[in-house]
Amino acid sequence: MEKQLEALKQSFCEELGQAHRAEDIEPMRVKYLGRKGALTSILRQMGTLGPEERPRFGALSNKLKNFIEQALADRLDELKRVSTAGGVDVTLPGRTPRRGGIHIINSVISELEDIFMSLGFTIASGPEVEDDYHNFEALNIPEHHPARDMQDTFYFDKGILLRTHTSPVQIRVMEKTGLPVRIIAPGKVYRCDSDVSHTPMFHQIEGLWVEEGITLAHLKGVLYEFIHRLFGTDVPLRFRPSFFPFTEPSAEVDIGCIMCKGKGCRVCGNSGWLEILGSGMVDPNVYKYVDIDPESVTGFAFGLGIERIAMLKYGIDDIRLFYENDLRFLSQFA
Ligand code: PHE
Repeated sequence: MEKQLEALKQSFCEELGQAHRAEDIEPMRVKYLGRKGALTSILRQMGTLGPEERPRFGALSNKLKNFIEQALADRLDELKRVSTAGGVDVTLPGRTPRRGGIHIINSVISELEDIFMSLGFTIASGPEVEDDYHNFEALNIPEHHPARDMQDTFYFDKGILLRTHTSPVQIRVMEKTGLPVRIIAPGKVYRCDSDVSHTPMFHQIEGLWVEEGITLAHLKGVLYEFIHRLFGTDVPLRFRPSFFPFTEPSAEVDIGCIMCKGKGCRVCGNSGWLEILGSGMVDPNVYKYVDIDPESVTGFAFGLGIERIAMLKYGIDDIRLFYENDLRFLSQFA
């Protein structure tokens, strides 16, 4: 019977170690000390002992009873103390810190980079604070061209500005590295403009391939491959004649509206087509600014807006959502 008391004490102690809430204590008191409790049922067997054993056993059981009562009271105290104001409730479940994620714009940039790198392009970059020469002049944008107008461009003093497109990277790369050049340049650009489809800062990717023998067919081949990898091979493309001062000839590229599959909807303004990039063969005048003989090489360039691609790919209808930092929006893509 002494062994039974010993075993009881041990199982009580183990159970007490598992009691992490104040509410756990009362059921334990009932279980061990209640009228139908474990200790009580051992005491009932006292009658089977000889008279000489009873006092010792009685004393031992009493001691155990006191021990259990005291231990329960102490534990209850402790649990109440930690859960009250100012204390730390060690019994609460742990708090998992929120996980960060890659911003949707950055993940679209990575996706585009992967496609172009697999086509042999390398990644280049240039400054966001640019000078007039690289942003405009060397790109064959004459002084009174509307793109230089104050309402589009953020100017600092003395011909310094926030670049309005990634095309100045074309100039910087051709100035620095020898030919051939096959680069893309993703990055931030700035224009004084703001509504559901424009933010003062947005992202573009510039592409430039200059090498002996490059033709419009290369331009088309690269852009077809790119669009098909991005939006699927069943998306139609349309090259529309256009004008950029730094390319000749120039084309804007439309894709069949991926929302309505070309039937006409709100997103494509019922035309069935979405304009997604500007492109063209590098204008010979541009080569003159970077000391390349226009007779020796040809090349093509293109530029596209990342936000626009992300909006189409994920069906987002307001560009400002990208920059409001609402985690409910951002975490959908993290
Ligand atoms: N830089 C032009 C723009 O921002 C896009 C473009 C790039 C067009 C390269 C042709 C060639 O609109």
